[in-house]
Amino acid sequence: MAKKTAESNNGSAITQAAEARVRQLEREQKQLRKQLREALRAGQAARIDTGFALELERRRSQELEEAYYDTVLRLTQASVYKDRETGAHIQRVSHYTKILARKLGWSREDQELIFRAAPMHDVGKIAIPDDLIRKRGSLDGEDREIMQSHTLIGASLLEGSNSRLLDMAREIALTHHEHWDGTGYPHHLVGEQIPISGRIVMLSDHYDALRSRRSYKRGFDHASTCRVILEGDGRTLPSHFDPHLLEIFAVAHVEFEAVFEQYKDQSSN
Ligand SMILES: [Fe+2]
Ligand SMILES: [Fe+2]
Repeated sequence: MAKKTAESNNGSAITQAAEARVRQLEREQKQLRKQLREALRAGQAARIDTGFALELERRRSQELEEAYYDTVLRLTQASVYKDRETGAHIQRVSHYTKILARKLGWSREDQELIFRAAPMHDVGKIAIPDDLIRKRGSLDGEDREIMQSHTLIGASLLEGSNSRLLDMAREIALTHHEHWDGTGYPHHLVGEQIPISGRIVMLSDHYDALRSRRSYKRGFDHASTCRVILEGDGRTLPSHFDPHLLEIFAVAHVEFEAVFEQYKDQSSN
């Protein structure tokens, strides 16, 4: 109990520090852009090696992207403290998304982008009351509505920056519970209305949730998990997933299994 309280305090301190850091970095980036504009306007442009100025700006944006990533990983860590999920789950989901992105023919840069953005899918759980997060079984009524709002909260936490990473993370946070057949939430999007990043994380997250052991359930083995995803079990239906991603999964599932084996939860057996 005391440990949980300490973890929760620790989580909110990390969140506040992370948010302050993001705000500071955004101020710095704005300032830098302003200085560059002023220098150019003041006619110093001729004396500035344009290539150097652009390189400086490129490096600065790269540093900012790194800092965003670092900050948001801390935010993610704060949400993991609250949830039953583990750090290993977050790692595995990143790897699955990269496998699917590669099979879809994405560039290396974009594979890396989804690898980094995927861990933030449940960051909105920071704002969900602990007793609800720890409730066993399926939720209904108001409880379910509050729990489902983690998608909207996550998206609002991540919105409003010019970072490609944060933008994809926002998209994923918002849409990782949407279903291809329109039965998901929060907006009941259908088919390609759901961004591909959200569809990729939805399948990846689902595979891992089925395989993971929880205090209230056993984890399925790889073969049973594949059966549930590809054939359905009444609760999970193949129509929930992007059919093209399912085709890829039907072949690439062995790579998912390898990731699961490589990044096992410490408490798993
Ligand atoms: Fe979620
Ligand atoms: Fe997850």
